[in-house]
Amino acid sequence: MNDFASHWSLDDIQWSSLDPAMVSADLLAAVKTAALVEANSADYVVYLHNVFRDDDDFKAAASHWGIEEVQHGAALGRWAELVDPEFDFAASLARFRAGYSLPLDAAVSVRGSPTGELLARCVVESGTCSYYSAIRDFTREPVLRQICQRIAQDESRHYLLFKRFYERYPRLSLFARLRIALGRVAETGDDELGYAWFSANYSESDGKPTYDRTECTGAYQDIATGMYARQHVHTLVHMIMQAVGLRVGRRLQQSLVGLVVWVLKRRSGRHASDEEALVAS
Ligand SMILES: [Fe+2]
Ligand SMILES: [Fe+2]
Repeated sequence: MNDFASHWSLDDIQWSSLDPAMVSADLLAAVKTAALVEANSADYVVYLHNVFRDDDDFKAAASHWGIEEVQHGAALGRWAELVDPEFDFAASLARFRAGYSLPLDAAVSVRGSPTGELLARCVVESGTCSYYSAIRDFTREPVLRQICQRIAQDESRHYLLFKRFYERYPRLSLFARLRIALGRVAETGDDELGYAWFSANYSESDGKPTYDRTECTGAYQDIATGMYARQHVHTLVHMIMQAVGLRVGRRLQQSLVGLVVWVLKRRSGRHASDEEALVAS
């Protein structure tokens, strides 16, 4: 086992502690969506192996990474099936994969360079680390807290993994780094999350529903961002700035965190439906 191998399995989760009564419909819908995105990570391994075809070290690390991401999907999917026995994780994943796919035949990174690809991966891991920390702190359901604690720790290690390789490749200009990082953040509005939401929460039995990207992505983002508290936003901003190599004073960083909190508050305010605190300032 190396530093980046999985440190846990589904057998380590105390499934008998599950309390479905503590789960809101919104939280359940968000976890189902996250389960599909995580479970689809095997395709990212194929893509990364293509992009980094000459880097055997990285390809080995990416394979380990993919196994962990698929395990995240399996844990979240099992949890969702236990809370909602009508949820069919495998069928939802098949629907998602049938309608959404990555550029598996890409020979070069869609970010323009290997460095850009690794920076974008750091941004994604910053997002997932902060997101699962936010769910862990938001929910009172004990099994989901266990799962999210373990996943958040994995995501933090994944960030360090990609950052380690990122620092081995030629450095990009600050402008390029900012462009890639902000571009990847903006992609949270693309089809991956929206179509995962649709595939996780609608099926043929709902009378042939039609996918609407704006609606599905918005519904997911409203619930997801509503679970963030200030410390999770701070984690997110800090990790992304570290990856970009942007060093600013503490006050400016706090202002940036405050700005992101404000944006999330506005967004989550449209969907506030749980009794638990939304983004706390
Ligand atoms: Fe993950
Ligand atoms: Fe990850």
